[in-house]
Amino acid sequence: MSKPKTVAEIREAFLSFFEAKQHLRLDSDSLIPSNDPTLLFTGAGMNQFKDEFLGKGRSMKRATTSQKCIRVPDLENVGATPRHHTFFEMLGNFSFGDYFKKETISWEWEFFTEVLGWPAEQFVVTVYEEDDEAFEIWNKDIGLGKDRIYRFGEKENFWPASAPSKGPNGVCGPCSEIYFDTTPGLPLPDNQGMEELPDRFVEVGNCVFTQFEREDGGVLAALPHKNIDVGLGLERLAAIAQGVPNNFETDMFAPCLSELESITSISYETDSENGIRMRRIADHSRAVFFCIADGVVPAREGRGYVVRKILRRAIRDAIEMGVEEVFLSKLLKTFQITMGECYPEIIEQEDTIKALVDGEEKRFREVYSVGIARLKEEIEAIKLKGEEKFSGETAFELHDTFGFPLDTTTVIAQEAGLAVDVGEFEKAMELQKARARAGSSISGDVFAQSLPSLLEESGVLRTNFVGYSELKLTTVIVGLVKDNKELENCQVGEECEMILKETPFYAEGGGQVGDSGLLSVDGEPIFEVRDTTEVDGYYLHHGKVLKAFDKQTVIEAVIDKKRREQIERHHSATHLLHAAMKKTLGKHINQAGSRVNEHSLRFDYTHPEALTKDLMAQIETEVNEQILSAFPIETNYTSLAAAKESGVTALFGEKYGTEVRVVNIDEFSKELCGGCHAKNSGSIGYFRILSDKALSAGVRRMEAVTGLLAIQLAKKEQTHLAEVEFELKAPAGGALDKIKALKNEVKTAKNTMKVELPSSEDVLQSLDMEKKCMAWKHLAGIKGNDLRKVADSLKKNLNHDLIVLTGGDAEEMTFCVLVGANEKAHAGDIAKEIGKSISGGGGGRSDFAQGKGRNNGDFESVIEKIFGKISS
Ligand code: SER
Repeated sequence: MSKPKTVAEIREAFLSFFEAKQHLRLDSDSLIPSNDPTLLFTGAGMNQFKDEFLGKGRSMKRATTSQKCIRVPDLENVGATPRHHTFFEMLGNFSFGDYFKKETISWEWEFFTEVLGWPAEQFVVTVYEEDDEAFEIWNKDIGLGKDRIYRFGEKENFWPASAPSKGPNGVCGPCSEIYFDTTPGLPLPDNQGMEELPDRFVEVGNCVFTQFEREDGGVLAALPHKNIDVGLGLERLAAIAQGVPNNFETDMFAPCLSELESITSISYETDSENGIRMRRIADHSRAVFFCIADGVVPAREGRGYVVRKILRRAIRDAIEMGVEEVFLSKLLKTFQITMGECYPEIIEQEDTIKALVDGEEKRFREVYSVGIARLKEEIEAIKLKGEEKFSGETAFELHDTFGFPLDTTTVIAQEAGLAVDVGEFEKAMELQKARARAGSSISGDVFAQSLPSLLEESGVLRTNFVGYSELKLTTVIVGLVKDNKELENCQVGEECEMILKETPFYAEGGGQVGDSGLLSVDGEPIFEVRDTTEVDGYYLHHGKVLKAFDKQTVIEAVIDKKRREQIERHHSATHLLHAAMKKTLGKHINQAGSRVNEHSLRFDYTHPEALTKDLMAQIETEVNEQILSAFPIETNYTSLAAAKESGVTALFGEKYGTEVRVVNIDEFSKELCGGCHAKNSGSIGYFRILSDKALSAGVRRMEAVTGLLAIQLAKKEQTHLAEVEFELKAPAGGALDKIKALKNEVKTAKNTMKVELPSSEDVLQSLDMEKKCMAWKHLAGIKGNDLRKVADSLKKNLNHDLIVLTGGDAEEMTFCVLVGANEKAHAGDIAKEIGKSISGGGGGRSDFAQGKGRNNGDFESVIEKIFGKISS
């Protein structure tokens, strides 16, 4: 039987191999880690099993996954080396307190040598220097020669790396890495030699034996149950199986590279500058598509910044290969072919991905031309100063902001005879990398003890939420928390968080704000709840203590009903708006974010251009029609698969469990949602759009109100209109006609109005006598021909060598220049210069000239400058 070779075959072979060994096959987690907001991206298969490693969470003992991962610290290497990626897939098998070293080592060995059929004599492995157990298993059980088992220290063979000496605290363990020797037959090198030959010895797997809990001071306490975390890089397995020199020449990237060949009209070659560029574009575009499919939208900071940055690098590479048209989104279909079956999100989110990527590319192409201009400007400035060094920090700024590679800056600077300070550039780059590492560290706080685990340890049960149907209930206080720590009791006036056995208070989530209300004992309020949030099943009621009490007090919990009802109206209206937009604008509309509170609803959606007034009116009417139909709003629970089958709208970038809650508003809207809703669309009352604006390329934000707020808005507009009609003395409904008539009147009056012009004596007298030879006078409100008339009247008594008269209004400036008979200066030239400096023009004879331009608010300095020039 032929052995697995393609990416899909290897992935399937791995997952089914471990499935046959009683592992639960689970889906990849989202690239946005679902249970750890402190992580920038999911960077390893083990991220979704954080709780299971700590002996909590789901009840399974064994799991296997193919996990989507993003790692960005090695960004510079991507494309230039055979195996670096930003986005990659990690195959993993995991044991939670079940099997350990012996089983996993023999199973990985079986997978490599029997399932994939790779020659046993081409493997070498590493173990942690003190891990004799792993050494013995490799040597005795597997039969690997001692010369093929390398021992390394905690930096190379511990996970997280260097955990014993540097931390973090939490579960950790030694690891054993498996390497494939791509050029067998050569002598085996020593430890240092092996590390220096990454192209010969390809790391194909890492088995982590998470057997310790690190405590303060680097103490490694043995865990009562030991775990296994194995990760295999799928792309590199495929490269070896297919006998190609780098991961990009496998079947995974073949359609992408051939599409790039046709876009650029350049043939792909492994060893060329363009080959590197094409590999980088292939890697980066794939990462961008997957990030957007998981809900990471290009932005100025955080995850969105990473997406923007890699997207820009790909486009810049294409520009350097002469691609002038927007092209990146054309590559999406190539990954739909190779990965769509396993990751349907990149097919389902096609419209959104395309709209966002195209918008970003268009904008970046504009930014890029600004970057080139900035670079040239900088070169000019350096040359003017007579220097020969191009600052490394500026080169880095160009690289970071505009995506300019150092090479491009160096070449362009060299052409101008300047040398870039590479040392300074690298220093700035290192600083940036350190910041990125700090922000995305996958080994950072992964195992820090959280509030939920503290509560769990003290026996506090997770909260039962009953607030879909109950707005008040009698229950008991089971926990008191402040600053992430438990309290035994609390004082009047203290701010803290309350945990109840069950609660009617909705915790902030899915864009809906948390509920507020009161906790009372025998009708007397003891705690004012201002907000409610949830962490891992615990509902935290945030607020202020009104009367001292202890844990276990029986209380009545009552939410602010009026506020909740208005929130529900806004939430249900958001669903109607979403459906109305899809119907009116197209199915590319996706929710990119929302915020629902008692004041308004905010809906962020993917759409490439501004909405016309007509479209907005159409959407508003559509929503109001659904409200008038007074449909019952119903919820039901079903499986995710069944919900998707029946065409339910799943939110972009949202992660769902296997059982989901569907909110139905008749046939018009069916959405997966955990929020609170009106019982009937009729009780939303009325819907009004407040505003709609661009948020970023391809994403817009609409705000709206419902219910009494919408009615109040209409009332306010009505009052306002009545006031306008009163002021205009217009009959009801006649304001517009009245305004048009008034505008006409003003126009006619302006045309016939006589401007009172100052006499020549007045003007001459007011001139600055100190500077007798040159004078400037500004006559506010006088312009064009009127200004010329005043200037003409000065001619007969002209004692000055040069007079400039200026006048005009807020937008426009007009001016006249008079030059005395004995003066050499040319009035026409002076007028030309003044005109130029106010974005206008001017000209005339040697003794008299005029012109006009924009009122830039600083006419004085323009004239001063010109006078200065003439006198010198
Ligand atoms: N967590 C380990 C790694 O990322 C093994 O999966 O290398």
